[in-house]
Amino acid sequence: MARDYLMAGNWKMNKTPSEAKALAEAVKAMPKGEGTRKMVAPSFVCIPAVAEVLAGSDVELAAQNMSSVEDGAHTGETSVLMLKELGVSSVILGHSERRHIYGESDEFINAKAKLALQHGLDVVLCIGETLEEREAGKANDVCFAQLEGGLAGIDAAQMAKIVIAYEPVWAIGTGKTATPADAQAVHEACRGKIAELYSQSVADAVIIQYGGSVKPGNVAELMSQKDIDGALVGGASLDAESFASIVAFDK
Ligand code: PGA
Repeated sequence: MARDYLMAGNWKMNKTPSEAKALAEAVKAMPKGEGTRKMVAPSFVCIPAVAEVLAGSDVELAAQNMSSVEDGAHTGETSVLMLKELGVSSVILGHSERRHIYGESDEFINAKAKLALQHGLDVVLCIGETLEEREAGKANDVCFAQLEGGLAGIDAAQMAKIVIAYEPVWAIGTGKTATPADAQAVHEACRGKIAELYSQSVADAVIIQYGGSVKPGNVAELMSQKDIDGALVGGASLDAESFASIVAFDK
């Protein structure tokens, strides 16, 4: 089954609103191949400026996180209702920085995922093992547990709104990339796990992105792997020229 390539820029806590606006203009103008989707995830405060630039364009707008509840007394949190009103269509959940710096559990991430789906947002669910877990031979098991936990209570029909991002923690922002073969092995195993949890057709349709030091020089080889369907890009998405070559990896 032909799956699209989803190339997403996770800007993390970088770019002020005016800088984000300029980068969004550049992303909007970036040529992409047939079957490639472009997405950007600015910080919350940059979303209004970026949404204005991207309105009516082919660039999808994502948030990097959201609250697990709809509204109320939650100082410092951002609601799905606010994101929707600004034109956000997806939300990244369970990023390793959320898991490891802010202690987010699978259960908490799952509550957010269900709330996002309930409000019609797509979800990019991040999973991935630490170096210690990889060295202990537990990479697949860690990813399986994060899939099971993050997807609990989400049904097969809702899986059409879910993207998985496999991001080995040891490869994020470190310049170390999983070899295409190592990444492919985990992607294939995770697709197998999704087939077991749902069905083969759900597994065949789900986009599984790779993330962790993706750059212009390694993107094509990663994308040539059978089960790698795009990239979640941090550092290299902050520079328009390098993100443009990532988006146009097949040119
Ligand atoms: P990186 O980040 O490309 O800077 O490694 C990827 C991510 O954390 O999504």
